[in-house]
Amino acid sequence: MSAVTVRVPAKVNLQLAVGPLRDDGYHDLVNVFHAVSLFDEVTAAEPDDRSAPGATVTVRVEGESAADVPASDDNLAVRAARALAGWAGRSYRADLLIRKAIPVAGGMAGGSADAAAALVACNELWGLGLPLADLMEIGADIGSDVPFALLGGTAVGTGRGERLTALPTSGVFHWAFALADGGLSTPRVYGECDRLRADAGEEAAWPSVSEPLLAALREGDAGRLGRALTNDLQPAALALRPSLEGTLRAGRGRGALGAIVSGSGPTCAFLAESEAHAAELAAALKGADGCRAAVTASGPVPGATVAG
Ligand code: C5P
Repeated sequence: MSAVTVRVPAKVNLQLAVGPLRDDGYHDLVNVFHAVSLFDEVTAAEPDDRSAPGATVTVRVEGESAADVPASDDNLAVRAARALAGWAGRSYRADLLIRKAIPVAGGMAGGSADAAAALVACNELWGLGLPLADLMEIGADIGSDVPFALLGGTAVGTGRGERLTALPTSGVFHWAFALADGGLSTPRVYGECDRLRADAGEEAAWPSVSEPLLAALREGDAGRLGRALTNDLQPAALALRPSLEGTLRAGRGRGALGAIVSGSGPTCAFLAESEAHAAELAAALKGADGCRAAVTASGPVPGATVAG
């Protein structure tokens, strides 16, 4: 096989409960992930004669804010491909092409998605045949959200978010997403969350999964799910990007069942009553404060999958 293309979804966090800061710099979480139909594509190809001599893995990036993604050894997809070759105990070569639609540094795990897609694509290109569980273990070292981008669907993550249990859901949920100008640094948002808590004299509680959220997912009840959405990083994201208040207000004003900052932001997620309502929300959000562009998507969808 000379090239493999993998499609990988973005995620939104339905519950992001942030516990105490650990000694390793991470926070213990309860993180309910939900994969939505906004996809990046990663192609892994056998290098041809024009590839840089000596380079084992190269990368090019196209599409949504491609210029903001490092096309270097720091790229998470490159790191993932190299880690996979290391796991297999050989020096494999690949040229990666990433086509982005997931917002960069947007709180939708776009970088982790590309790492997950690179693992699936190179596993296939190099004929390694590693099972999903091995790819998830390799991915967890690249980023906390990589295992979920491999798994997809809806799942609860504990630890730093990498220990996953799939959750039963019914039906399809329809979403509108408001994309912001520029990204927010994830470590900075976690740091601001710690700072706000310290200022308020709050101890971080040990996180636990929301029972009303689980029931809403099981029953496919969008109204209940909208009311159960929570994100402990939201106050920190709003403190760092106050214009997002206007974005959230605009979606609520148009009848969103739930309105929330996605992960560490700045993308905002709005749960809709139907596909048509999601389209209406997206159209209204385009003019809102803090919103650069708006898209619709639905979930849950599968994780990183070989295309075609
Ligand atoms: O694992 P990942 O590289 O995606 O994490 C990025 C940053 O987000 C970490 O360096 C850390 O600052 C923060 N983080 C955290 N607790 C987690 C996950 C991420 O503090 N559970």
